[in-house]
Amino acid sequence: MLTEAFFRSSTRPTPPRDASIDSTLDFLRETYSFGINRFEKYGTDIFEARLMLSKALFLRGDGAARLFYEGDRFTRVRANPQTTLRLLQDKGSVQQQNGSAHRHRKALFMSLMTPEALEKMRKLVNEEWRSAAKRWEKRRKVVLFGEVEEILCRAVCLWAGVPLFENEVKARTREFGGMIDGAGSFGIRNARGAILRTRTERWARQLIADIRLNRLSPSRETAAYKIAFFQDLDGKVLPVEVAAVELLNILRPTVAVARFVVFGALALHQYPQVSAGDFADAGFAQRFALEVRRYYPFFPMIGGRATETFVWREFEIKKGQWALLDLYATNHDPRLWTKPGEFRPDRFLEQEISGFNFVPQGGGAYATSHRCPGESLTDEIMKVSMRFLREEMSYEVPKQDLSIDISRLPAVVKSRFVIKRVRAL
Ligand code: HEM
Repeated sequence: MLTEAFFRSSTRPTPPRDASIDSTLDFLRETYSFGINRFEKYGTDIFEARLMLSKALFLRGDGAARLFYEGDRFTRVRANPQTTLRLLQDKGSVQQQNGSAHRHRKALFMSLMTPEALEKMRKLVNEEWRSAAKRWEKRRKVVLFGEVEEILCRAVCLWAGVPLFENEVKARTREFGGMIDGAGSFGIRNARGAILRTRTERWARQLIADIRLNRLSPSRETAAYKIAFFQDLDGKVLPVEVAAVELLNILRPTVAVARFVVFGALALHQYPQVSAGDFADAGFAQRFALEVRRYYPFFPMIGGRATETFVWREFEIKKGQWALLDLYATNHDPRLWTKPGEFRPDRFLEQEISGFNFVPQGGGAYATSHRCPGESLTDEIMKVSMRFLREEMSYEVPKQDLSIDISRLPAVVKSRFVIKRVRAL
């Protein structure tokens, strides 16, 4: 017998459906533009397509971000490809928790972002830039991307209370960089990332074990100490492998900020109207960092799985449905941003940002949603780095391919941004 509920749901409109039987190849070809092309084509904020043979709903805009980040409607469990999950957040991590377990674990991450801790990171990053610039003076050319990864790897290990010997620096930098680089790929790059991850995990587990056994004594306010002794809701410390995963969830994404720093260097190069004195103005430095994070491509989208059945804008979204919030399309939504394709830090003088229109690192409230806890740290690293590049060193940018390779997820400047004739000022 057909029930009333059946008729109610069967008569609901369905979102526009992408023409291809499976859109995976189109997605890999179009990457960051995949969503935008279809949102525009169908004149909608929601469409359906198949990715890797699974039905997915693509969403964009501030309304969609609110839906995604408010009210526990989407879990991250089984919401992103295993190949990505394994190289980024990984099993057992804060991102894989729901409800009160998530909130409790998230408080650990937020407790690391105090004003004092941010100030400490500013100082460490600045010092690392200073010694790197001195080293670079002797080099014929410098590939900035790898070098900034190393600067951030050194700084974050010191910040987090993790010992890093000089002979380990290159290997650790390569491992963190490789995990990020492989996260959005399949095949060889992903497999390389997975091998590097296994090696790093072994190292991080040993660190946690050593801290617990008092063989290492980082100070009490550091990430390493807090993670090692953090108690979950059951009153027990985290299993050593989960604590290691969470420590890596601090170290690896901090190294990932190198991508934004290099995009910032590219912006300094391509928009010469930004003058050296501008960064003395803290407001401008902040606006510049925000615009880099809004404008340049990083994570194209983030996946979630509906935890209940509900209706959004006429459309029924069923429990278990896979959905992807298009972060890039939201940061470039012409209804939210005037001329979104222009790089213009001063747009933030006129425009307020909310947890739902500006989403390069997720949205919503930090304590209760999956929004990135490292956002303020990212901002601070960006500001110190941009100021250093503009005011504390001089360099030339030789002819090279400065286009952005969007076939890689996350994207990167093709040449990795080469500079020469570096002088520390
Ligand atoms: C390159 C800069 C960064 C980008 C683009 C980025 C991006 C993101 C995004 C989009 C999310 C939301 C995931 C979701 O909704 O499920 C997220 C979550 C997260 N990020 Fe970041 N992030 C960055 C830097 C950082 C830093 C510096 C840290 C730590 C120091 C960090 C740690 C985390 C953690 C632990 C989560 C999971 C939070 C949760 O599930 O509640 N990220 N990040």
